Amino acid sequence: MTNQEVKELFEKRHSVREYLDEKVPSKDIGTIVEAGLLAPCGMHIHASHLYVFNKGEVGYSKLVEIMVNKLGKDPFYGAPTIIIETVDNSSIAKIQDGTCVIENMLLAASFLGYGSCWINAPYKVFVNDDKKLLKEIGIPVEYDVIAAIVVGKAKN
Ligand SMILES: Cc1cc2nc3c(=O)[nH]c(=O)nc-3n(C[C@H](O)[C@H](O)[C@H](O)COP(=O)(O)O)c2cc1C
Repeated sequence: MTNQEVKELFEKRHSVREYLDEKVPSKDIGTIVEAGLLAPCGMHIHASHLYVFNKGEVGYSKLVEIMVNKLGKDPFYGAPTIIIETVDNSSIAKIQDGTCVIENMLLAASFLGYGSCWINAPYKVFVNDDKKLLKEIGIPVEYDVIAAIVVGKAKN
C-alpha cells in the first residue's frame, strides 16, 4: 500500500446514515470482525466479544425492538448489519479496549467499500436494570456493551 493509499483510506471513512437494502457477504463481515479483534488491548488481555446481527434474522429484529421500546426509534438507520462490541470483566480498560476495536472495524469496512457508522445507543440502553435485556439477544449479561457499528452499502 502506498503512502497516498493509506491517506486515502483514512479520508474515505465517513459516517453513513442511509443504506441500500443489500446483504453484506459473511466473508466481508468476517474480515471486519477480524480487523476489530486485531486491535490493541490493555495488558494484552483480549476481552472483547463481537456480536453480528443481520437484517432479516430474529436477533436483528429483537435488537431493534428493544431499542424502539427504550428510545422510541430505531437508531441503526435500517442498515443491513449491526455489530455490537462488548467487553468482559477481564479487561483493565473497557472503554479504551472497546473503542480500539470499533475504530479498526470502521476502517476495515471502509477499505472493503462499505459505509459504516458508530452507534452509541446500545451503550446507553444496556445498563443497570436493562442489562438483563442482553439475554434476549444472546449476549451474556455480565458483558459491558461499549458501542455498536452499522455496516452496509451506502445509498449514495
Ligand atoms: C463516541 C461516538 C459516538 C457516536 N454515536 C453516534 C450515533 O449514535 N449515531 C450516529 O449517527 N453517529 C454517531 N457517531 C458518529 C459521529 O457523529 C461522527 O463520527 C462524527 O460526526 C464525524 O463524522 P465522520 O464519522 O463522517 O467523520 C458517533 C461517533 C463517536 C466517536
